[in-house]
Amino acid sequence: MEQNQFGKKGWTPDRIGNLKGKTFVITGTTSGTGFEAARILLSKGARVVMLNRNPKKSENTIDILKKELGNSIDVLTIQMDLSVQASVKKAAAEVLKSVDRIDALICNAAIAQVPKRVLTVDGWESQMGTNYFGNFTLQALLFPLIEKSKGRIVTVGSMGYNMGLKTIKFDDLNWDHDYTPNNAYSQSKLAQIMSVYELQDRLEKAGKTDVKVYACHPGSSRTNLINTSGSFMMKFIFNLMKLSPLTQSAEKGAYPMLMCATEPNLDPKGFYGPTGWNNWVGPVGAHKLEPHAKDKKIAQKLWELSEKETGIKWNL
Ligand SMILES: NC(=O)c1ccc[n+]([C@@H]2O[C@H](COP(=O)([O-])OP(=O)(O)OC[C@H]3O[C@@H](n4cnc5c(N)ncnc54)[C@H](OP(=O)(O)O)[C@@H]3O)[C@@H](O)[C@H]2O)c1
Repeated sequence: MEQNQFGKKGWTPDRIGNLKGKTFVITGTTSGTGFEAARILLSKGARVVMLNRNPKKSENTIDILKKELGNSIDVLTIQMDLSVQASVKKAAAEVLKSVDRIDALICNAAIAQVPKRVLTVDGWESQMGTNYFGNFTLQALLFPLIEKSKGRIVTVGSMGYNMGLKTIKFDDLNWDHDYTPNNAYSQSKLAQIMSVYELQDRLEKAGKTDVKVYACHPGSSRTNLINTSGSFMMKFIFNLMKLSPLTQSAEKGAYPMLMCATEPNLDPKGFYGPTGWNNWVGPVGAHKLEPHAKDKKIAQKLWELSEKETGIKWNL
C-alpha cells in the first residue's frame, strides 16, 4: 500500500478547524454518509444547506441534529428531487437567493441498484438521470457562486465505477437493452467521476483555477442506500455484509467527502476514499483510479452529450 499522506490513521475530521463563516451545500442528508457529513460540518461551526427530496425527513434530520448539537446550529433546508431537472433548477435558484457564498457543494445523494429499468420524468434511466444528470445541472447552476467564493465541488462516486462496463454506453444510454441494476448504477457513478476530471480540464482551459473539483467515494458503508432502492436480494446480501468487517460506519464513509470539502492543498487529480481492503474500508487517503475513468475522449464526448441532454451550458 502507498504511504498515506495523512499518516497511519489516514485523514480524519480532527484536521478540520473552525468553519464559522463557511457555507457548505450538501445533497442527501436524511441518512447515511450525507447525514454524518452534515453533522460534522455543523459541529465545526459551518453553515449547512441541505438539499433533500423529502421535506418531512429534512425536518426530522434538523430535529435530530439540534438535539445533538444544540439549537444554535446554522442549518437550512431546501427541497430538491435530484431525479427531476425542474426541481434541481428550482432548488439551485433558491440556494442562490438564500446564501451569499458556497465554500463547497457536496454532491452526495444517489440511488443504487434499482431492480428494474425505470425512466425519470425527463426520460433518462433512473440512476443516470438522478446520480449523473441531476448533479450535472446542479453543479452548473451553482457554479457562478462557487466561483465567486473560490469554492469547491465534491462528487461522491463509488468503487462501483469499476464494477460494470468500463466505458459509457453512448449508443444505449437508457439501457433499452441488457439492463442490469449493477451495470446501470456503475455507469452513473463512472459518469459522475469522469465529469470531475473533465470539469477540471475545462476550468484550467478557461483560467478558472480558483475552483477545485474533487472525486471521492465512501467505500462500503453501513447506510440506507441498498435498503432504499435495491432489490430484495440485494438488500439481503448487503444487510448480511453489514455484519462483517468488510463494511464501515456511515460516519467513516463521510470522511472522504469531508476531506475533499475542507482539506487545504489537496491534489484535485487524486481519487479519495478508504485505502484498506478493496478500498471498501480503512484509513482515508488517495488511491488508484483505473485509467478508463480518465479516458479523455470519452469524457469529452460525455460532457458534450450532457450539455445537449440537459440543455444546460456551463458558463466557463
Ligand atoms: N453506502 C455505501 O456503501 C456506498 C458505496 C459506494 C458509494 N456510495 C455513495 O455514497 C453516497 C451516499 O449514499 P449512502 O450510502 O449514504 O445512502 P443513503 O443512506 O441511502 O443516503 C442517500 C441520500 O440521498 C438521498 N436521495 C436519494 N435519491 C434522491 C433524490 N432523487 N433527490 C434527493 N435526494 C435523494 C436520500 O434521501 P431519502 O432519505 O429521501 O431516500 C438520502 O438522503 C451516494 O452517492 C452513494 O452512491 C455509497
